[in-house]
Amino acid sequence: MDAVVAACREALARPGPAIVLTGAGVSAESGVPTFRGAEGYWTIGAQEYHPEELATLVAFSQMPWEVWAWYLYRRGVCRAAAPNAGHAALVRWDAALPDRFALVTQNVDGLHRRAGSPDARLHEIHGDIDLMRCARDCTPARDPIPTAVPAIPRGGAVPEAIRAELRCPRCGAMARPHVLWFDESYDEPRYHLDTVSRLAAGAALVVIVGTSAQTSLPWHVVALAARNGAAIVDINVEPNPFGDIAARSAGAIRAPAGEVLPELVDRLA
Ligand code: APR
Repeated sequence: MDAVVAACREALARPGPAIVLTGAGVSAESGVPTFRGAEGYWTIGAQEYHPEELATLVAFSQMPWEVWAWYLYRRGVCRAAAPNAGHAALVRWDAALPDRFALVTQNVDGLHRRAGSPDARLHEIHGDIDLMRCARDCTPARDPIPTAVPAIPRGGAVPEAIRAELRCPRCGAMARPHVLWFDESYDEPRYHLDTVSRLAAGAALVVIVGTSAQTSLPWHVVALAARNGAAIVDINVEPNPFGDIAARSAGAIRAPAGEVLPELVDRLA
């Protein structure tokens, strides 16, 4: 920890954004399953269906209510969870570095926002499980999923009465979950592609927390930042490809985010 704190301090002495890039691991201690862990959504899911089958636009066009049932089940899991000490520490760090802090998250669970991370500096690059948008794209606008829409039990179906709630409030077409699917691409209006790329290109520091490095925009962020000479830190309970990059930069810490982040932030802030 000492070496990582010293490297972060040195990096923060240089100009440029301080980016924290999070994945499912930061919410694991809140009881939200990760994707590829032993109890992960994609690991468990494999028995009934392949993730590619469900988390895709193709699946939504063929079986929209099965896809909705899956996301309303996951939304229930996320809403039943509470932010942990890791989320809270990042809110404190943001408050200590308001002019240069940026939180880039792959998580759709909403826990960073519920912990108090301000929207202005929170970039949800895979969407938000509490939001829906028009499946016909009549507008890129997002709407909260109506509170009348309950959690669906695992393997359950979306009741007829609830299906009427999942409609675009503007054109009346079916709505879809506001999440990025495997057969879709990042863009700026929905997933902050240009904004996070710009932040990364000028970054002084990138602290990566709880991701297995399996999606492309996080790689782009880390590559752009490293090219700019940013210090790279990795916090994860397991080795992962970003850990190798961090080991050649500011270091990797193999411990739970909920334990590491409070101490790191307290020592830096
Ligand atoms: N503290 C730190 N790291 C942890 C913890 C913890 N308490 N618990 C688990 N981890 C780590 C795991 O070791 C793993 O490397 O978190 C990582 C979780 O990896 P994934 O399950 O693959 O989740 P993530 O990397 O966020 O997935 C990225 O892939 O499926 C898509 O859209 C989905 O946003 C998701 C993206």
